[in-house]
Amino acid sequence: MEFLPLFLNIRERHCVIIGGGEVAWRKANLLLKANARLTIVAPQFSSEIIGLAKDSLCNCIESEFSPEHIDDASLVIAATDSEKTNSFVANIANDKNIPVNVVDKPALCSFIMPAIVDRSPVVVAISSSGRSPVLTRKIKELNEIFIPGREGQLAELLGSYRAQVREKFSEFSDRLRFWEMLLETELSELVYSGRMDDATKLIENFLEQSAGTAAQGEVYLVGAGPGDPDLLTLRALRLMHKADVILYDRLVSQEVMDKLRPDAEKIHVGKARAKHSVEQETINEMLVRLAQEGKRVLRLKGGDPFIFGRGGEEIESLAKANIPFQIVPGITAASGCASYAGIPLTHRDHAQSVRFLTGHLQAGVLELDWENLVREHETLVFYMGLLGITTICTKLIEHGMDPEMPIAVVQQGTTKTQQVVSADLESMPALIEQAGLKAPTIIIIGRVVSLRETLNWYEP
Ligand SMILES: C[S@@+](CC[C@H](N)C(=O)[O-])C[C@H]1O[C@@H](n2cnc3c(N)ncnc32)[C@H](O)[C@@H]1O
Repeated sequence: MEFLPLFLNIRERHCVIIGGGEVAWRKANLLLKANARLTIVAPQFSSEIIGLAKDSLCNCIESEFSPEHIDDASLVIAATDSEKTNSFVANIANDKNIPVNVVDKPALCSFIMPAIVDRSPVVVAISSSGRSPVLTRKIKELNEIFIPGREGQLAELLGSYRAQVREKFSEFSDRLRFWEMLLETELSELVYSGRMDDATKLIENFLEQSAGTAAQGEVYLVGAGPGDPDLLTLRALRLMHKADVILYDRLVSQEVMDKLRPDAEKIHVGKARAKHSVEQETINEMLVRLAQEGKRVLRLKGGDPFIFGRGGEEIESLAKANIPFQIVPGITAASGCASYAGIPLTHRDHAQSVRFLTGHLQAGVLELDWENLVREHETLVFYMGLLGITTICTKLIEHGMDPEMPIAVVQQGTTKTQQVVSADLESMPALIEQAGLKAPTIIIIGRVVSLRETLNWYEP
């Protein structure tokens, strides 16, 4: 982050704007909204600024800028059309350690002004760190559409009950739970439609009914997809923000982890091949214990929890212990990697079925029904198959598969480090040794792989 976003209290603080034109007037209105004590300095002023002074909203000093104008200022904005004056103002303010903004010149600023969506007291500030004001405006427009006009009233209403809620629930986690459950009721809709009395009644009732109720724990088994955070489902994202504790796998990408609630407890239980950091049995027990403590537990797994994810076992122990749970599917590695490599897993002309298999070697051996796997119009996808790739290629050829059958190995599919190596069955083992691929990788075998030549679109 180049700039730290902050909300500054400038109520009754002396703020100075240098410049007397339209830009200065716009900045003046913004500072006045935040109740600044405002001085505007310029040799001449627009009629709008004169209007502000007449209404006693600001003090105007008709003069060229001189350093003593900002002696006791808490904040300075340079908004003249002279570059020389603007950088002079910035230098003086920086010397005096006063935060300074020079309009449209991020390099001279110690702070920059964000685009604002104002639903006071709810305020959304948006910045592209000075890179693209047009992009910032677009994001502002989206927020203007999606944040209801009465969001501020909702915040005021909730704020007016904070003391009461604190009194009723001494534990922070109970208070958090109360607010979250309240916001899942129709409260927001009542406020958005202007029914403030009904909204108030709802809070009163909710407060009365919730008093003393012990928190009920729950587990969310969520598929995090293959890596690209844009592939998370909406439900996954919602639950990721709700959970108190998160048990996550090695396969969950950092970009996905960045989307979790920052204050949630995060426990790494991930399994690297041959390095089982936490045994499956222990994970099952942890899920049960944490939920019994009343926590909302997110079990976050790479890809889809029910595809080579042992999600079934985890859910079985929850069901046995009568713990409520939800299961959220994720995009499995086969789908994600195939799409991002431009390989359709089925195709009218080339493959009428697809099989997901594990290529994991048990004591150096891969026991599969090889004969059954040799089909002309079927795609095979091997998870966990990199170490066994020579065995896979050799066995398939031995059992009658065309040695020229196309095969692709996708490393870290859908991420910025995706790499695809494609060849045919016969040449792949030698090629893969030179390629030095890193886990996780997935193997796709079948005529569909040749379509990649025309369908490849993703450039990491
Ligand atoms: C234990 S399995 C978990 C699969 C996961 N539940 C899913 O639905 O994708 C782990 C294997 O998934 C595959 N895998 C997962 N994410 C991948 C990715 N981004 N790129 C390539 N392969 C991936 C690899 O074969 C890896 O060894």
